[in-house]
Amino acid sequence: MVELEQGMGIRVEALSAEFQAQAQVWAERLGVPLVDDEAGFAVQVGPDGLQIQQLGPQAPGPVRVDFVEGQAAHRRLYGGGNGQMIAKAVGIAQGVRPQVLDATAGLGKDAFVLASLGCQMTLIERQPLIAALLEDGLARARGDDEVGAIVERMHLLTGNAIERMRAWEGEPPQVIYLDPMFPHRDKSALVKKEMRVFRPLVGDDLDAPALLEAALALASHRVVVKRPRKAPIIDGPKPSHSLEGKSSRYDIYPKKALKA
Ligand SMILES: C[S@@+](CC[C@H](N)C(=O)[O-])C[C@H]1O[C@@H](n2cnc3c(N)ncnc32)[C@H](O)[C@@H]1O
Repeated sequence: MVELEQGMGIRVEALSAEFQAQAQVWAERLGVPLVDDEAGFAVQVGPDGLQIQQLGPQAPGPVRVDFVEGQAAHRRLYGGGNGQMIAKAVGIAQGVRPQVLDATAGLGKDAFVLASLGCQMTLIERQPLIAALLEDGLARARGDDEVGAIVERMHLLTGNAIERMRAWEGEPPQVIYLDPMFPHRDKSALVKKEMRVFRPLVGDDLDAPALLEAALALASHRVVVKRPRKAPIIDGPKPSHSLEGKSSRYDIYPKKALKA
């Protein structure tokens, strides 16, 4: 059952009759109705897979996960490879491709960048609708000649990462990557349609300190936290250093050196 901020109803709808059966399946899986005239959002099933559409006159376009075309493809081909700050932050170097747990997967953009650079990724997402978009995007990408091999390196888990990390069994991840929602209302972020969908669905990840604590207890080599550039660190232990980009910053909490 999906829970949203108060007054933010959601419904599942098929974009044409041929997708009715799939819409029914998603409605049951998510515990979301097929009919709700008051809904603020619709999970739509159509020819491009699953998408979330905010409803109403001012609504931006739909949000979906696409690892094959658009932004993801552009960044994969022209994004700067191992020189990207996120790659350095997780410790990618000559002969080093750490196994990474992305404990705040969202729409999987960061995880896809790291997977395309060769990291084995485990992803955790707790918001059921976001997890559904991600699952659908991964499934569609598996059929693609080039991107199929990349998404094979991305393994999605659902649920709360704090609990999952505390109950982790087996080999711990070498690196844990965290990018929780930062609780502030930045005008430029509000303009982005993804943020306009994310905020009401996800809210502010106020339990980030517990997430960091669980990550630090589990990771064998390092924890990396992505923050808006000017944002304070997550409450708790201090990072040893940070890498700063134009709009984001990566706070690095080392435990052990990553070796080739
Ligand atoms: C800012 S988004 C992450 C964006 C992501 N890095 C990307 O590249 O698409 C934060 C996401 O983390 C998820 N999240 C936050 N805390 C979590 C937790 N404890 N367990 C699982 N998911 C969590 C939220 O539901 C949200 O989807």
